[in-house]
Amino acid sequence: MATARIVDVGRFVDQDVEVSGWLQARRSSGRLHFLIVRDGSGSIQGIVSARDVDPGLFALAGRIGQESSLRISGHVRADSRAPGGFEMTVSGLTVIHEAHEYPITPKDHGVDFLMSNRHLWLRSSRQQAIMRIRARIIGAIRGFLDSEGFTVIDSPILTGNAAEGTTTLFSTQYFDQTAYLSQSGQLYVEAAAMALGRVYCFGPTFRAEKSKTRRHLTEFWMVEPEMAFFDLDDSMALQERLITHIVATVLDRNGDDLAVLERDTTALERVTPPFPRITYDDAIEKLRALGEEITWGDDFGGGHETVIASEFDRPLFVHRYPSSIKAFYMKADPARPELALCADLLAPEGYGEIIGGSQRIDDLALLEHRIDEHGLSREQFDWYLDLRRYGSVPHSGFGLGIERTVAWICGLHHLRETIPFARTLDRLYP
Ligand code: 4AD
Ligand code: MG
Repeated sequence: MATARIVDVGRFVDQDVEVSGWLQARRSSGRLHFLIVRDGSGSIQGIVSARDVDPGLFALAGRIGQESSLRISGHVRADSRAPGGFEMTVSGLTVIHEAHEYPITPKDHGVDFLMSNRHLWLRSSRQQAIMRIRARIIGAIRGFLDSEGFTVIDSPILTGNAAEGTTTLFSTQYFDQTAYLSQSGQLYVEAAAMALGRVYCFGPTFRAEKSKTRRHLTEFWMVEPEMAFFDLDDSMALQERLITHIVATVLDRNGDDLAVLERDTTALERVTPPFPRITYDDAIEKLRALGEEITWGDDFGGGHETVIASEFDRPLFVHRYPSSIKAFYMKADPARPELALCADLLAPEGYGEIIGGSQRIDDLALLEHRIDEHGLSREQFDWYLDLRRYGSVPHSGFGLGIERTVAWICGLHHLRETIPFARTLDRLYP
């Protein structure tokens, strides 16, 4: 007999086919059992009738618990009322593994319970939808950068220096030295940009974030493009096209998943260029006018980002923050040296910063000075300083957080559901 993934069962209407999967749910009424079988590509209802199968098989179909693994075979019928549009009249049932007392039932469970059972929770249709959208976003990013002439450069995870400040470093013993888990691949892609022009890294990054917020993980995935001969405006234009492409791709390809998540897609359809751009100065003024307590020179908290972004209907760039609250490598604005040539992209609907980027310092003496000011060691950055000794050029780059982007596009309040196995202050298991 032919076998099929459930998504392809429609090709076998009025024929017999076998599918393999897990028992997602069962309803029984007298001499009928309705088995909902899921295989990752979709779900199908198999109808087991006492009239058609022998009593042993009928009893088995009524006994196996939720998430038992099985194969069912039978006749496929088109039925517009059925989820997916097809049903099977079951003639054969093989139980591969009989499960009982599956911990996650259709009733409501608390988030903590679900996170402790994350390895099982992934099987729910909601979590599958999120994982498919996550995969689509990653694919769209790679496809876009590829089409723009970028080369992927895998940056190391074990590193000797801090790229994003020394307060959130995870250290680990590295033979007789201390190594740090990478906070960012930026410094390495800057080196590679001097070789290949347009490059990006994509990988896990680590920050020992001691605060519990819905927007912070200790391990998150970041894509970091770095472009030689790009100034801040060139970089913002690229970001705008990247984000537009990601959102359009998900809308085009993951409509069913967005529907499972009950995502309001009209908000996503508005994500078209140009994205508004406001300066940090303007943002501070706006916040104060809206009654927020903040003074010039303060960094924004998540709450401030939400307030500013809710004034706009699409992603918004805030540019030229004070250098004093930004990383050591950012170039100063020649017109206002106290400001950095940097921009954060804030997602609408209260999702906060999804991209941080800047033009980099390209002058050796200035960069040395900034390294000193930040209390970093020149020796450890000697290789990075070489990039300003040999053919230094203006260059810019940015980092897009995958989980924040997934949260926004899926409409999820908390980052914990955006990554298969979230790492937070209080969670290293499962
Ligand atoms: O703004 P960040 O810290 O920028 C950098 O790391 C630069 N080196 C990027 C670059 O220019 N190449 O982080 C960039 C993005 C943020 O906008 C956010 O989306 C995400 O990474 N991010 C986090 N996501 C989840 N949990 C955390 N703790 C995050 N910290 C940053
Ligand atoms: Mg940032």
